[in-house]
Amino acid sequence: MQEQYPAGRRVGFVTGGSQGIGAAIALELARDGFDLAVSATRIEKLSDTIEQLAPTGARVVPVVLDLRSLPSMERAMAQVASVFGHLDVLVNNAGITLRKAALEVTAGEWDAVIETNVKGTFFLSQQMGRHLIGSGRPGCIINLASTHGVVGFAQRSTYGISKAAIIHMTRMLAIEWADHGIRVNAVAPGTVETPSRAAAFSANPDFREAMMKRIPLHRFATVEEVAGAVRYLASSQATYITGHTLLLDGGLTAY
Ligand SMILES: NC(=O)c1ccc[n+]([C@@H]2O[C@H](COP(=O)([O-])OP(=O)(O)OC[C@H]3O[C@@H](n4cnc5c(N)ncnc54)[C@H](OP(=O)(O)O)[C@@H]3O)[C@@H](O)[C@H]2O)c1
Repeated sequence: MQEQYPAGRRVGFVTGGSQGIGAAIALELARDGFDLAVSATRIEKLSDTIEQLAPTGARVVPVVLDLRSLPSMERAMAQVASVFGHLDVLVNNAGITLRKAALEVTAGEWDAVIETNVKGTFFLSQQMGRHLIGSGRPGCIINLASTHGVVGFAQRSTYGISKAAIIHMTRMLAIEWADHGIRVNAVAPGTVETPSRAAAFSANPDFREAMMKRIPLHRFATVEEVAGAVRYLASSQATYITGHTLLLDGGLTAY
């Protein structure tokens, strides 16, 4: 099925839109003409994002979502489908990180990262796949991976494993759902100095320096650069791209 956008505004669902990369993606898609559902784990966390989106004129619906709960994912997807009638693009941005030596990682930390990043991304994508296939509409899914899922880093094993799984999930679902006109892609940023990363760096400036040294372009990515890549993958210019992970890494993986 050739992807052709039906008339009317497209609808996107950006998970983890309370801050950082997710908030920037929501703004970029809203400026590109999307109406949006934006999620966080608690509704009040979305107030800044909603205020930021207001001038774009997009219709914005705040959604509560906990990626560690299947019923929460089902409720969120049902809410989005019932409010907008359809959904065109799912951006699986929400995720958690862990920086810890492999020797010290606990089973609880492992479960939190893998459940949120891998299980959550998979089962929300499953909900999206069912929605699109059930409605007979084309659509796309864009996952947030990371350079940590492509190359090795010390102290990032659990997180990197979760992002490598997302990169492979992207290929698997792209193949399985291609006949339904569903494209599945990922963006894999290197370090982006979002509030959560900035806090980790200010607590440990040596860590920031070590990350920076590995980047040929000598700077971190901006949230706008990541959001621009997501907008492109969701656009009519990217309709022949599926199963792909687009690296935004300042050349880090070019070595
Ligand atoms: N920042 C980087 O350097 C970088 C680099 C590469 C990839 N990434 C990836 O890009 C994505 C966004 O990163 P970020 O730095 O912008 O993250 P962030 O600032 O820490 O924000 C994470 C978002 O995920 C949501 N979230 C956390 N746990 C959740 C759960 N159990 N269920 C549903 N939502 C949950 C948070 O919601 P609440 O506000 O409600 O907690 C928040 O909106 C992540 O997937 C991250 O791995 C980031």
